[in-house]
Amino acid sequence: MRDRVHVLVGITILATSAGNAFAAGGTESAPAPGPAGEAVPSLAVLYKPYFPIGAALGGATIATQGALLAAQVNSLVAENDMKWEVIHPVSGNEPADYNFGPADKIVAFAQDHGMLARGHNLVWHQQVPAWVFAGADGTPLSATKAEVLARLQEHITTLLRHFKDEVYCWDVVNEALSDRSWRTDSPWHKTAGSSTGGDGIPDYVEKAFEYAREVDPSVKLFYNDYGIESGSKFERAFAFAKALKAKGLLDGIGIQGHWSIYSVDPKAVGRAIERFASLGLQVQITELDLSVYRWGDSSSLASLPPDRAELQARRYGELFRVFREEGVARALAGVTFWGIADDHTWLDHFPVAGRKDRPLLFDERHQPKKAFWAVARW
Ligand code: G3I
Repeated sequence: MRDRVHVLVGITILATSAGNAFAAGGTESAPAPGPAGEAVPSLAVLYKPYFPIGAALGGATIATQGALLAAQVNSLVAENDMKWEVIHPVSGNEPADYNFGPADKIVAFAQDHGMLARGHNLVWHQQVPAWVFAGADGTPLSATKAEVLARLQEHITTLLRHFKDEVYCWDVVNEALSDRSWRTDSPWHKTAGSSTGGDGIPDYVEKAFEYAREVDPSVKLFYNDYGIESGSKFERAFAFAKALKAKGLLDGIGIQGHWSIYSVDPKAVGRAIERFASLGLQVQITELDLSVYRWGDSSSLASLPPDRAELQARRYGELFRVFREEGVARALAGVTFWGIADDHTWLDHFPVAGRKDRPLLFDERHQPKKAFWAVARW
């Protein structure tokens, strides 16, 4: 995986294999040198003593961002291609009922570049087809709890077997907590959300972890959510994680990290990482990006103004300073960005559809932003 040598302000570092993609000449251009004229270092290499650096991708971005990804990260996750809607679109549990092609392409890309692959996700209230919850006559949400759980078990068993030894951890359940309670508007909750375990954990949540553990005891099982770094959602996630860990069903917590440059609290994130780790869990930042807009602001910027570029760099710098602190770094098992460059980000569609956001470390032309240098130099 390491085969190119870069000289960087007096120190010699090794870049990931993917550096040669630039030399080979693809659709991407080689990154411009940094502010002091130095070559662009690989975050994967710089952070090797700390934790893997990852990014989310899909078939389209393998084509358009492959060289940059391979140069910068050593861990990948499918942005959408392992979600139920894509990978298991039609009912049944025969091979023909699954669509493994797009996800296999991502795993192959990871393997070709010596990278880790995370699995995302097995249970979520979004991007899951209606048939999963439909009764025998097709009526929406009329399946029995037993039917829904049987479909869930088949799905989990098939996916974990398919990706055995290729995917090292799974976001088994994604976003089962709402801001106040469990997410009761989820079709999972409506059909299989009653709790028989005596601790209030909805059965579909606990069963998902049980099924996963049963089929592959070695793969790491994560609960993944946003907003669990502080406040009452932290407290509820902590209690739930403690209960699941005590049952031997949980290995890790994913703190998503969809924040804004105006509202992220790096110190609180560091505290949450250490608290979750105190339960004996691995902790990962799984979907990092920093929107350049305030929550609730629906205005639109034609380009990234210098003051926001500065603030974004400062916030990313603060976050990674916390991530490198001894106790936090020991607890942190990975930092994954939700994308790699601003030409592809889900935030162009949320919360204002069609508005350009610029939340990542590389710009639309794959050039390193100030934010990149704030993460790469310390
Ligand atoms: O694939 C179809 C395409 O055929 C169609 O033409 C197009 C029209 O809109 O839609 C395409 O599907 C979109 C899909 O992304 C693939 O690009 C969906 O509309 C769109 O809703 C979907 O959005 C994804 C979103 O999850 C789903 O809610 C985002 O890409 C993805 O980044 C986002 O990721 C989630 C994590 O999984 C969980 N945490 C939050 C995070 C952000 O919402």
